[in-house]
Amino acid sequence: MAIQTVLFLLSGLCAQFLPGLATLPKYPSQALPLSALLNNKAAGSHANFDGVGGAYDSQFLPTGSWEYDGLTFALPSSWEENDDNVLATGQVLRLQNPTYLHELHFLYAGDGTGTPVLSVFTLKFADGSSHQVDCNVLVYAKNWWVWANVNRAAIITPYHFDKALKNLNATNIFEWSTSVPSESPVESITFPARAESNRMHVFGLSITPSVTDTTAGPALAVRRARFTTRWEDISGVRAQAVEVTLANLLPSFTLAPNTSITSAHTIELVGPGIQTVSPGVVNRLVPADQARVDVFVTGSQATGSAVVQIRDSAGNVVATSAEFPTSPLVENWTPDADSLSLHETPSWWNAAKYGIFVHWGIYSTPAWAPPSRYAEWYDWDIRQPPNSSNPTWEHHLETYSEHVIYDDFIPDFTASKFNASAWVDLFDRAGAKYFVLVTKHHDGFALFDTGNTTNRNSVQLGPKRDLVAELLQTAKAEKPDLHRGTYYSMPEWFSPDFAKYGFGSWPGGLAHNAFNVSPALEPYTGRLNISDYLDDLQLPQMIDLAVTYDTEIMWCDIGGPNRTLDFAATFYNHAMAQGRQVTMNDRCGFLPDFDTPEYATFGSIQTAKWESSEGMDPFSYGLNTATNASQYKNGTTIIQTLVDIVSKNGNFLLDIGPTAEGEIIAPMMDNLLDAGAWLDFAGDCVFDTEYWFPSSQDFNPPAGVEPPRFTTTPNTFCVVAFAQPVDGKLTVNKRLPVLAGDNIVFLHPQGPGSPLTWTVDEKTGRLVIDVPESEVKTVKYAWAFQIQYKLD
Ligand SMILES: *[C@@H]1O[C@H](CO)[C@@H](O)[C@H](O)[C@H]1NC(C)=O
Ligand SMILES: *[C@@H]1O[C@H](CO)[C@@H](O)[C@H](O)[C@H]1NC(C)=O
Ligand SMILES: *[C@@H]1O[C@H](CO)[C@@H](O)[C@H](O)[C@H]1NC(C)=O
Ligand SMILES: *[C@@H]1O[C@H](CO)[C@@H](O)[C@H](O)[C@H]1NC(C)=O
Ligand SMILES: *[C@@H]1O[C@H](CO)[C@@H](O)[C@H](O)[C@H]1NC(C)=O
Ligand SMILES: *[C@@H]1O[C@H](CO)[C@@H](O)[C@H](O)[C@H]1NC(C)=O
Ligand SMILES: *[C@@H]1O[C@H](CO)[C@@H](O)[C@H](O)[C@H]1NC(C)=O
Ligand SMILES: *[C@@H]1O[C@H](CO)[C@@H](O)[C@H](O)[C@H]1NC(C)=O
Ligand SMILES: *[C@@H]1O[C@H](CO)[C@@H](O)[C@H](O)[C@H]1NC(C)=O
Repeated sequence: MAIQTVLFLLSGLCAQFLPGLATLPKYPSQALPLSALLNNKAAGSHANFDGVGGAYDSQFLPTGSWEYDGLTFALPSSWEENDDNVLATGQVLRLQNPTYLHELHFLYAGDGTGTPVLSVFTLKFADGSSHQVDCNVLVYAKNWWVWANVNRAAIITPYHFDKALKNLNATNIFEWSTSVPSESPVESITFPARAESNRMHVFGLSITPSVTDTTAGPALAVRRARFTTRWEDISGVRAQAVEVTLANLLPSFTLAPNTSITSAHTIELVGPGIQTVSPGVVNRLVPADQARVDVFVTGSQATGSAVVQIRDSAGNVVATSAEFPTSPLVENWTPDADSLSLHETPSWWNAAKYGIFVHWGIYSTPAWAPPSRYAEWYDWDIRQPPNSSNPTWEHHLETYSEHVIYDDFIPDFTASKFNASAWVDLFDRAGAKYFVLVTKHHDGFALFDTGNTTNRNSVQLGPKRDLVAELLQTAKAEKPDLHRGTYYSMPEWFSPDFAKYGFGSWPGGLAHNAFNVSPALEPYTGRLNISDYLDDLQLPQMIDLAVTYDTEIMWCDIGGPNRTLDFAATFYNHAMAQGRQVTMNDRCGFLPDFDTPEYATFGSIQTAKWESSEGMDPFSYGLNTATNASQYKNGTTIIQTLVDIVSKNGNFLLDIGPTAEGEIIAPMMDNLLDAGAWLDFAGDCVFDTEYWFPSSQDFNPPAGVEPPRFTTTPNTFCVVAFAQPVDGKLTVNKRLPVLAGDNIVFLHPQGPGSPLTWTVDEKTGRLVIDVPESEVKTVKYAWAFQIQYKLD
């Protein structure tokens, strides 16, 4: 275990925030020197970054003092010569002076290609306490490269070395920032322990110290001002959203009215040509907290800068920030990566939080998988391997015989009971704000009219209906507030046309019969004679979903070979022409708007948008008749998963698998409606909320109690308890943004009750709410307490 001492001085950071007009300093960050801990070489054709001969190409890596998202990191002055990163083995990095920290920033990458790495860092404080932060590599996406996929990362290189040979999968280095508790100064940072594989590497660490001088009131700083691609129609003008994040750098233990913003402060942008059409409003900002608001502007330029101006409730300018680069609202997308990669999730998607995913297709006919396999993978699984050691192969033989091939299921996929009105009505009553329908899975069978690209679809075969049109048009007509999305598999397992592009579990080429029955190769029913899979099938099908079907979410799967640059420009321009904003996930091979952990979630807040998807079935998206419905996610699991994800800035896409006839089975429907009933009265703590910067959860709940989660809106703060409060009290062992005069109400089926009595222990910040036992008993799944700010 290495012990490292860091020379670190606080000088120059105690900027004064004078009452009245103040020019705020640039958001502070200081790189921590890692030199004594460096123990691994990341870059160079002969470096061994990952333990199996892989490495970055140094020509794509920045050097020296490097700025990202307004933060300063210290990278090596040159790569390849010496060790350049820290492979985590439990090292301890000691700060020379114990320091109150506001935020801690990491540049890191996991070095595996699959399963999680150990990613928890432990902070030790002067008062003897400790705290864990998890930069969280719970998903494959945070490893240094991912086959056939794309990442949003701080540093992206176009290829990497694999034992000195070029591997053309792009590689990444990620940035992650976390709040740090500031009740006590930080003394040291302990790295995660050594992992056997998928190890954690740190390229840079940087700190944002707290400001400890409380004499001048809140220590404001603008964390960032980002000119986004989101917009809103404000009085007939297309106004661009500028996302401004305001920080109060005082440590949390100084929380008091005179160290906080307690009245409506307005946030504007000032710069050449820029007009603020609708300011952002911050009503409450306590020490150690941050608030993220949208300011709507017109006239921002391609090259230029602007400052953030803050006015108090009397309209006086009280502070002006350092300069931020501007970029104009993009109204015409061209198919180039630089411009398209700016695109981001629209405001409606950010506010929506909860969607329903629907896996429905030929695989809904057999509807079977052994435990922990996806039932929609039946066509693939039956051949992996094609013998009696394979449960799917055995099941098929017993249930259907060797003479039934996968395409024989097409006529049984009837959709005979499919009622689009009933589905969208259910999604709405479930409380969901959007849905994503599988329009074509890896088996290549589309649920929409695929024109001259193929007849392998539900219009020509099976139900002879355009199921995508029925669902999307019905939703548009009957539930106009419900947003409409489409899943689309980029590759196809057994398409002969995909063989040229095949990879991994998507080789393309006709399937070999699993039972050695003649003919040896199975047909690909409905195939038309096309010359190129990407140009003649993938791109036109995706464009049809965008232009003919008006999808609002293109939820691609698998990635790999693609024409996504052309697709995205068409998709975004078509929507823009209709005054709509749309989005695309990170599996289209290019240009990700949001990350998509699968049956996984993050352990911490991720400021970049993400969406977790999971089946209601614990192991499968498609209906699996082998799963006992008692194992499905119920009201409790759905609501607690949703609230946990929302508290970390994510969305939850909960999947159901209808039957081949198009019915959503009763247990799935019941669980959706149970969750919907809770969202009916407690949805204000979920929809259109923001994460709470200091933490997504209380780290010190009573033993055995799952900690509550927190969400915020400009006027309120929510504590959502995952255990029913007992003995008439809810206790939160964390300093919350609650001040004398605030009302706290309990959200329950009979409406928010009258304000509850509560106390805060000034020394520890512990909040104790007296809860109304009779009302608490009327609620299941989660208990939502809403703090309503009293404004000065
Ligand atoms: C990505 O990596 C895999 C595994 O090493 C390799 O088979 C594949 O060819 C690579 N893809 C490209 C485009 O180089
Ligand atoms: C702020 O209020 C606290 C009491 O909450 C008081 O002790 C302190 O002196 C005040 N600070 C200033 C700078 O007025
Ligand atoms: C099934 O196939 C796999 C892969 O080819 C092989 O390893 C296994 O021994 C086979 N099992 C039987 C029971 O034939
Ligand atoms: C379809 O569902 C809607 C809404 O539940 C219902 O009103 C309608 O009668 C159903 N149509 C048929 C044909 O069952
Ligand atoms: C399909 O039809 C479109 C539009 O008529 C045409 O541009 C395209 O070349 C056709 N594709 C094939 C593979 O025939
Ligand atoms: C399929 O199309 C190719 C040109 O794309 C043509 O050469 C070939 O004759 C066609 N085959 C059939 C069976 O129509
Ligand atoms: C997507 O297509 C682009 C352009 O052809 C290519 O550079 C990129 O590597 C593809 N993405 C993947 C993951 O293969
Ligand atoms: C399903 O689970 C319930 C409750 O655990 C149990 O009573 C029932 O026997 C199970 N059914 C099957 C088919 O396993
Ligand atoms: C809901 O599911 C969870 C996890 O499976 C289980 O612990 C809990 O008992 C279930 N709740 C109810 C009311 O069935």
